Parts: sequence; C-alpha cells; structure tokens
Amino acid sequence: MDLATVLDSHRVVVCVGSGGVGKTTTSAALAVRAAAQGRRVLCLTIDPARRLAQSLGLSELRGAEQAVPAALFAAQGVPCKGTLSAMMLDMKHTFDELVARTASSPQQRDRILRNRIYQYVSTSLAGTQEYMAMEKLHAVRRDARFDLIVLDTPPTTNALDFLDAPQKLVGAIDSPVMRWFVETLESSRGLSLMGRGTAFVLKGLSRFTGVEFLEQVGQFVGELNDLFGGFRERAKAVYDDLKGKDVAFVIVTSPSPLTVAEAVYFTRKLRDYGIEPKAMVVNRVHPLLVPVASADEGIAHLEQLLRARGDSADARSLWAKLDTALHDDQALGRRDQEGVRRLRRAVGAQLPVLEVPAFERDVHDIGALAQLSSHFVRSEGQA
Ligand SMILES: Nc1ncnc2c1ncn2[C@@H]1O[C@H](COP(=O)(O)OP(=O)(O)O)[C@@H](O)[C@H]1O
Ligand SMILES: [Mg+2]
Repeated sequence: MDLATVLDSHRVVVCVGSGGVGKTTTSAALAVRAAAQGRRVLCLTIDPARRLAQSLGLSELRGAEQAVPAALFAAQGVPCKGTLSAMMLDMKHTFDELVARTASSPQQRDRILRNRIYQYVSTSLAGTQEYMAMEKLHAVRRDARFDLIVLDTPPTTNALDFLDAPQKLVGAIDSPVMRWFVETLESSRGLSLMGRGTAFVLKGLSRFTGVEFLEQVGQFVGELNDLFGGFRERAKAVYDDLKGKDVAFVIVTSPSPLTVAEAVYFTRKLRDYGIEPKAMVVNRVHPLLVPVASADEGIAHLEQLLRARGDSADARSLWAKLDTALHDDQALGRRDQEGVRRLRRAVGAQLPVLEVPAFERDVHDIGALAQLSSHFVRSEGQA
C-alpha cells in the first residue's frame, strides 16, 4: 500500500511527528490531493506558514472552517473534483467550547471561563494543545458534510507528548496537589489560619499571589469536580476514536539522524498503544546525484558548455568549485539515503515509507502541494 491508497481508504488521517519536519505541509498536501480527486475534505491545521494559510483561504479567521474556493485550484492548474475546507485550530477556543458543552449551567460555564487558573490551564499547560487537537477531531468527525478529515498535530518538540497528553492534562488538573489545596482552603477558610509553610509553598508554586491563587484553585477544582465525570469520559472517548478502523496515522519525519531516531521510537510507541501506523513520509530527502566519472571528463564537459555560450571563463577553476559543491551535495544525499534505509529496517516491511524530495522553494501554494503529493504514490521499482 502507498500513501495515496491509505488516503483513499480512510475517513480520518492524522499526521504526527517531531517539530519542523513538515507535518503541516504534508497535511495540506494530503488534503489538496484528496479534494482534487473528488473527496469532501476538511483539513484541520495548526499554525501554517502565512503564505500556506493564504493559499488555503485562512488568512483571517481562526477556529472556524473556511471553504477553499475552487478558483484557487483552477488558478494553479489543479482540477478539483471535490471540495476542500480548512480550519486553523485554536486550542483556547476549543477548550472553551468543551467547557461550554460540559458545564451544567451558563453560570458555571462563565465562572470557569473567567477563572484565572482555567485561563492558565487552557493556554499554557503542557499537553493542552495536543489534547485539544484530538478534541476538535472528535467534534467534527461525524460531520456529514465531510468524508475525509486530515488532522495536523501541534509543533511539539517531543512527538510523544501527543499521546500522553490526556493523562497529563487530566492528571495535572485532578492531582493530589490540587486536592490538597482545596482541602486546605476548606479547612482553614482563608489564609489567616493557614500555617507559614503553606503560604511559602504557594509562593513557590505560582505566579499568582497566595490568597488569590488559593481562591482561584479552590473554585476551579470545585467546578471541575462537577465537570470531571464528563471530562474524563470524553478524554477516553476521544482516544478510543483514534483506534477506529477508519483512522490512519501517518508519521512524518525528515531523513536526518535525530528525527529518524524519534520517528522509529514514535512508531514503537504507537504500536504499544495498539495503533498500527499506516504510512511514513520522509520529507525533504536530498537526491543522490549521479557523479561524473572523472575530473577530466567533467572539465571537458564544462569546456564544451562554456564554448557553446561564448563564455571565456576557465573551465578548470570552475570545475574545482563545482566539484566541492557536488561533494557536499553527495554527502547530504548519502546521509539521507542512509536515514531512509535505517528507517525501513527499523519499522519493518509492513509500513510503507514514502520519500518526498526537498523542494528548492518553500511549499506554499496549491500547485506546489499537489506536486508534493505526487510523491505519495509509490513509483514502480521503489523499495
Ligand atoms: N519537501 C519540502 N521541500 C521544501 N520545503 C519544505 C518541504 N516540506 C516543508 N517545507 C517547508 O518547511 C517549512 C516547515 O514545514 P511545516 O510543514 O510547517 O513543518 P511542521 O508543521 O512539521 O512544523 C515550511 O516553510 C514549508 O514550506
Ligand atoms: Mg506545523
């Protein structure tokens, strides 16, 4: 199976991998390809580069889906038989929506949304962004307007955060420390009765001042206890979703040694979670150039070229420079080949590994995305 087939046969495709490897670009390319071929696609993306956002019609709104006009495809010479909508994920907005849905009354909703601890948790706590990407997916995956959802994931440096996010998040909110705060607050009814030790710990723990912090935590945990049943269940439902047969995980990586090691580790970790990734994209592979047989041959060839152009430059010194550049390129090409080989060995033959070349320019428009996606089909004779 290649990636194009994976795309055809699933309803949800999730792109995961280390930061900066090309997850957002790959997600957009997958979405463009499927839309061109006739699917009704929603691309949930995170922080696309400005020009990419513009070419997906996302230059203004966040947190709401935007239809990409068919004219944008046509202008780039890409026929589009289906439809493409894109949405830029906004984690705070998603978290707020979750609270609004789960709260027992509008008053409770407003108390939580106004709470400063909530504001911290919903914007800054590790794992929130990852969890909210999943949450958004859960909310839209049954939307009948779409038959394919492509989910980009946050630019975490550690790809594993992504899977551990819900436990971390629930754990942090529902931790013994938080409970201790609440109990202290309830038994002491205010800071005046509290021991010096507690006040000292509080100072160390937060950027808020003691009393205010305690009050806010107490209120927040109190409200969440109420919400919690729902929240925990929901986190579980969201994660059960990911194990569905119609969901395909695609691991994106670069061929450089560090990210290769991470991609291998991440593949194992997914398998530990009972999720078999469906494909791996090795993005920005430098081609291995065919070397010229000898310096003499190279110089002779250059002389010919220069003569044809009426150029009087010295072929020998030009060759010396070219040769150095060629050597550097060859080294990069060899390193990348080795990276791809290592990946293939480590993940096993059942996982298709697709190579996408490094383009000379950033991949920003629909034309370039479509071109990139042509590499998702395995060519004849490729391992
Ligand atoms: N194959 C490629 N060739 C050239 N540039 C690329 C390629 N893939 C991605 N890029 C560029 O690299 C940058 C980072 O890619 P991005 O998809 O945002 O990474 P991530 O989402 O993993 O952080 C973008 O400017 C993008 O245009
Ligand atoms: Mg990204």
